[in-house]
Amino acid sequence: MIQIDQITFTYPDGTRALDNLILHIPRGVATGIVGANGAGKSTLVNHLNGWFMPGEGSIRVNGLEINAGNLERIRKCVGLVFQNPDDQLFTARVYDDVMFGPANLGMDRREAEASAERLLREFGLWEVRDKPPAHLSHGQKRFAALAAVMVMNPEVLVMDEPTSDLDPRNRRKLIGLIATLPATTVTVSHDLDFIWETCTAVCIMNAGRIVASGPARELLSDRALLELNGLELPLRLQGS
Ligand SMILES: Nc1ncnc2c1ncn2[C@@H]1O[C@H](COP(=O)(O)OP(=O)(O)OP(=O)(O)O)[C@@H](O)[C@H]1O
Ligand SMILES: [Mg+2]
Repeated sequence: MIQIDQITFTYPDGTRALDNLILHIPRGVATGIVGANGAGKSTLVNHLNGWFMPGEGSIRVNGLEINAGNLERIRKCVGLVFQNPDDQLFTARVYDDVMFGPANLGMDRREAEASAERLLREFGLWEVRDKPPAHLSHGQKRFAALAAVMVMNPEVLVMDEPTSDLDPRNRRKLIGLIATLPATTVTVSHDLDFIWETCTAVCIMNAGRIVASGPARELLSDRALLELNGLELPLRLQGS
């Protein structure tokens, strides 16, 4: 579904955040990307819908190489939920933010409205749909940003730290929701218990590279491998 071949990305200040990175994500698989702060996870996932373009190397989605000329097609296929919801929410009303993507992609309006209402109710945001996004709580913003992407039913759903700011009950709700999605998912998270529950494959990042990948529960139980890469066992395995 996604084929990343030897991409390199350097920020304008000279920081090389991705270094000859190779990653193949099969269709229909829920993949978790984990790594310490600064490992390059957000930089990587910001490439998956063409938001960032690699300095070197190539990314293919469904066989189509991402370039400046096909961003619309790519973004119809890949939905990206940013780590910072303030990067996602930009209109004056929560409801308008959720309806922006579908309108932009030319989706059927009635279907989009029905889907927006279902998601906003599911995420407990229906009552605040007329508020400016800036006036939402952090967890509400997180859900609004998720709704604004999920409403487009992307074939690939990419989420960067989706559980940060969520209370335990809402975190559980998100786990349930992800389990029902037909999409290929790519989840970046420091919440390794969340990755344990929602992902079947895991990639570990360190210094701009993928240093290990494989079955999620195998990698997430490998204390030595995790510690080598600045991580700890999921809480569920600590003490066992
Ligand atoms: N706008 C920027 N300009 C310069 N360097 C940046 C910029 N954004 C990120 N970096 C650097 O790129 C590297 C990778 O950052 P990135 O945000 O991708 O890490 P991350 O793995 O997502 O970390 P976290 O777990 O803290 O979210 C870090 O060294 C960071 O300092
Ligand atoms: Mg990040």
